[in-house]
Amino acid sequence: MSKKPKFQLPTGMHDILPEEQKYFQKIYDVCETIANFYGFKKIDTPILEDTALYEKGTGLTTDVVQKQMFTLRTKGGDYLTLRPEFTPGVIRSYIEHGMQTWSQPVKLYSIGPVFRYEHPQAGRYRQFHQFNLEVIGESNAVIDAEVIQIFYNILQELKLKNLVVEINSIGDNQCRPYYKKLLMNYFKSREGALCADCRRRLKENPLRILDCKEEKCQREIRQAPQIIDHLCEECHHHFRGVLEFLDEIELPYRLNPYLVRGLDYYTKTAFEIFFETSQKTENKETFSRDALVGGGRYDGLIKLLGGEDTKAVGGAMGIERVIAAMKTKEVKVQKAVNPPVFLAQLGTMAKRKSLKLLEEFRRARIQVGESFGRDSLKAQLKMADRIGAKYTLLLGQKESLEGTIIIRDMITGKQDIVKLEKAVREIEKRLKR
Ligand code: HAM
Repeated sequence: MSKKPKFQLPTGMHDILPEEQKYFQKIYDVCETIANFYGFKKIDTPILEDTALYEKGTGLTTDVVQKQMFTLRTKGGDYLTLRPEFTPGVIRSYIEHGMQTWSQPVKLYSIGPVFRYEHPQAGRYRQFHQFNLEVIGESNAVIDAEVIQIFYNILQELKLKNLVVEINSIGDNQCRPYYKKLLMNYFKSREGALCADCRRRLKENPLRILDCKEEKCQREIRQAPQIIDHLCEECHHHFRGVLEFLDEIELPYRLNPYLVRGLDYYTKTAFEIFFETSQKTENKETFSRDALVGGGRYDGLIKLLGGEDTKAVGGAMGIERVIAAMKTKEVKVQKAVNPPVFLAQLGTMAKRKSLKLLEEFRRARIQVGESFGRDSLKAQLKMADRIGAKYTLLLGQKESLEGTIIIRDMITGKQDIVKLEKAVREIEKRLKR
């Protein structure tokens, strides 16, 4: 058995090895192209922010703040937290840079790592990546529908099928307090049937119970009062608007009256996009689902964080989960293209000239493979074969002295000698044929 390495990955974190990069690159390309099409501009905020920003923004009663933050104390005594999500940082930046004076709405997207101290399991990491969208300064329901549509389009563009959009309205501070009271009374009478976490949630925020995945809590949730029956006039009107826009663009969705989301700032629209799979064994079919995207409207957050009263909506997509879904569906992602030319050299003078020649190829934008550290011509030719080069350039001692180079056609085996300064031109010509 091989020896365990001295240093290993921190729990719940993962390396993205070269072979995986093509998935990330593909997803980034699709996300950025679509975000640009819909008029979003890119924003990068620091990975570390004041801990208090998340306590206030994400919310003190959320699992994210209570259990999942990576918080550190700096040498200067500040408390900073590795971002567990993008939204509070983006809103801090919106306020700090006076973006309310820009043309509204301000549409921003971000891509990068986020950190949550979770119990690691399949699809649940402690460092993962999100593609995040925020539309700040717009209250119209059409924007809620557009945000959902953008994420749906991205997933479709990535060739994912079996997507399910779930949507709900969780009201606002007009109607939610009354609903919370109803829920509180309902769950209080069933407190004994709830898990320990939900008994705590009952005291802090009974809405959170609706998000619990424990089977025994699920049994109670199925009978619980639904917020949809208790929305105020404005929230009801807004929700109807969102659904009508989704109908108009023929985006399929399911109403889920118990969808509440795990973050404190949401008002009105809440949505998630799931990827569903089924597995058939001899006598049973099992279903599983993964949340790829989550989001919603958050009309109170900007004011809560010290800005003006500004309405907003957004969402985030978990990139590792999208990659896992692509893999189960065997979505092909193009491999990196191998260089069409290999440059083999022999001897010190040839090495020097090769280094210079490589630069000329780079300027001409022709990819060239090489292995300058190797001295054996046989090993270099083997490598040229392995990468599937169309042409190999051979530069030995003799050619270096004569100012020439050999071009070998790797398919026919035919070799020609050309002047070194004509090598790039000649290869350009041959590749065009
Ligand atoms: P969220 O639902 O917490 O929303 O996260 C969005 C997505 O990130 C999830 O649907 C999932 O795909 C992925 N994700 C979450 N936790 C993990 C994990 N531990 N490992 C792997 N993937 C994970 C937000 O973060 C909100 N800030 C979205 C938003 C933006 N709402 C408004 N604007």
